[in-house]
Amino acid sequence: MRTIIVNCKNYPEAMGEGAVRLARAVKKISDDLGVEGVVAPPTPMLALVASITGARVFCQAVGGEAGDKTTGAVIPESVKAAGASGAMLNHSEARVPPGVLARLVPRLAGLGLDVCICAQTSQEAAELALLGPKYVAIEPPELIGSGVAVSRAKPELVERTVAAVREGGFKGKILCGAGIVTGEDVEKAVRLGADGVLAASSVVKARDWESKVRELARSLS
Ligand code: G3P
Repeated sequence: MRTIIVNCKNYPEAMGEGAVRLARAVKKISDDLGVEGVVAPPTPMLALVASITGARVFCQAVGGEAGDKTTGAVIPESVKAAGASGAMLNHSEARVPPGVLARLVPRLAGLGLDVCICAQTSQEAAELALLGPKYVAIEPPELIGSGVAVSRAKPELVERTVAAVREGGFKGKILCGAGIVTGEDVEKAVRLGADGVLAASSVVKARDWESKVRELARSLS
């Protein structure tokens, strides 16, 4: 089954009740089409979205490692307690030092949380895949939010990443993201060897969330 992760970031449309409606749209379409749909709501909405929508929910970022006295930090245990299914790590907008990633991935996995680790280059993706996350995502930072799809503008990056990550024996899913706007962008990503996509602005800013998610997810079914 292929995957679409909708990252809400902190777009105003997905704040509060918006996050709930968007998560319901992702769940409905993924159920309809037999695609794995994941939504990453703004972090303060994590528990509410997970508990009332039944959607597969990931935390957008986990940065904290330490225990009780860590005011404001998002740590694996709080993500688990919020009812999330997993977490994204090392997104370009929330980079994590490699040494911390090496500790966070097994710690999240040990709590039963699925990890999507993001990388900016094929080499970084291959290195991070060795940590054993469930998903590795390639996202060139310069295309994020650009409306120009990675699968069109940098097809060789997606192909190179798939080859490098698989060469290391990675058995999980390889996703690509940045600038994904249309179903054709997704189709192209699949043709390049991706198992799915990450999308943010094209979905969150769409006038009709359900039809945009359907358009993207249809190319994954
Ligand atoms: O995590 C996905 C995100 O970084 C891609 O953003 O707006 O280019 O779809 P966008």
